[in-house]
Amino acid sequence: MTTLRIEGLVKRYGSVRAVDDVSFEVGPGEFLSLLGPSGCGKTTTLRCIAGFERPDGGRITYDGEPLTDIAKGVFVPPNQRKFGMVFQSYAVWPHMTVFENVAYPLKVAGGVAKNEIQERVQEKLALVGLGDLGARLPTQLSGGQQQRVALARALVMDPRVLLFDEPLSNLDAKLREHMRFELMELQSGLGIPAVYVTHDQAEAMVISRRILVMEHGKIAQMGRPDEIYERPATRFVADFIGLTNFVTAEVVGSAGGGRWSVRCDLGERLCTSRHEHSPGETVTLAVRPERVEMSLDAPADGNAFEVTLRNAYYLGPYTEFFLDVGDLTIRAQHSFPIDATPGQRLYARVAPEHCLVVAESPSGDDAC
Ligand SMILES: Nc1ncnc2c1ncn2[C@@H]1O[C@H](COP(=O)(O)OP(=O)(O)OP(=O)(O)O)[C@@H](O)[C@H]1O
Ligand SMILES: [Mg+2]
Repeated sequence: MTTLRIEGLVKRYGSVRAVDDVSFEVGPGEFLSLLGPSGCGKTTTLRCIAGFERPDGGRITYDGEPLTDIAKGVFVPPNQRKFGMVFQSYAVWPHMTVFENVAYPLKVAGGVAKNEIQERVQEKLALVGLGDLGARLPTQLSGGQQQRVALARALVMDPRVLLFDEPLSNLDAKLREHMRFELMELQSGLGIPAVYVTHDQAEAMVISRRILVMEHGKIAQMGRPDEIYERPATRFVADFIGLTNFVTAEVVGSAGGGRWSVRCDLGERLCTSRHEHSPGETVTLAVRPERVEMSLDAPADGNAFEVTLRNAYYLGPYTEFFLDVGDLTIRAQHSFPIDATPGQRLYARVAPEHCLVVAESPSGDDAC
């Protein structure tokens, strides 16, 4: 069952198409992330959903009820959408106590009895783990606690959708890492759809079952975190999410079942592609560093290629290797040590399923 549906959303600022024909759906209890670099249209998409922006085209519905339908002149104002929003800047009022901050939307809405306000605020404060801190001023709270006040304030009206715009980016790295798990658990208990904007891929991967990657106002790819990471559709997605080696190759021919034989600096290799290719065509291969297997001796199956170790950097959980092969330097990451010194010849290999052809630009089929 779909709850929140966005269809053909377009928002222009002058000649900039900030949101360019974006469509997606969010189910009840689903946490969907909009992920992408600065300026790709994440906030604009969210603001259109909230009703803070009037889009130039498209439809937004909640449970079939149109909230925005540009073709039909429908535009429900933000305060009637019953959506809660949490921003990057916590936007909590410094002169009000925690309790007063959270109670504020109820007071503005009016018609709620004093004891009901007391009850609802206390319930939401307890939900975000601030049950005992209602009397404090925001200045007496940590950044993480202030962000939880903002979350309790967004929840106090019992919103039917939650919208987050980079809510953790003002927190220090450690707290941020911790809060993403907390947020995810809290949201999964609420049972309402949530859209979460971030440019942090790790955050998107923890928080959401589905990620929508945006590029220049368009959807570059939508899928589960593992699909986006393991099967990036385009060079842009592979590059934005995690670290990737890109290798230019020439197609030799089909090996059947989506496998292709290609020639490149890594020798003649088998790779995987969701496209059809012709011999002689130039393609881009994407290989994740942790998928570059390494050994001191040539593997028996002869399927490896020789590399020269340029350098190795110990990073705790893994070691980062820079390997020269032909004119190329590729990166490999492994959690186990390899007893080799710079300049030493080694052997590397990449399984065909981890050597992917990626499109240079988004194409309709790949995007979703
Ligand atoms: N009010 C505005 N007037 C003019 N242009 C705008 C306005 N708001 C956004 N834009 C432009 O629209 C594009 C998308 O902006 P948006 O704020 O949605 O990006 P974003 O993905 O949220 O980026 P960031 O990660 O930096 O927050 C950008 O090119 C931006 O300059
Ligand atoms: Mg933004």
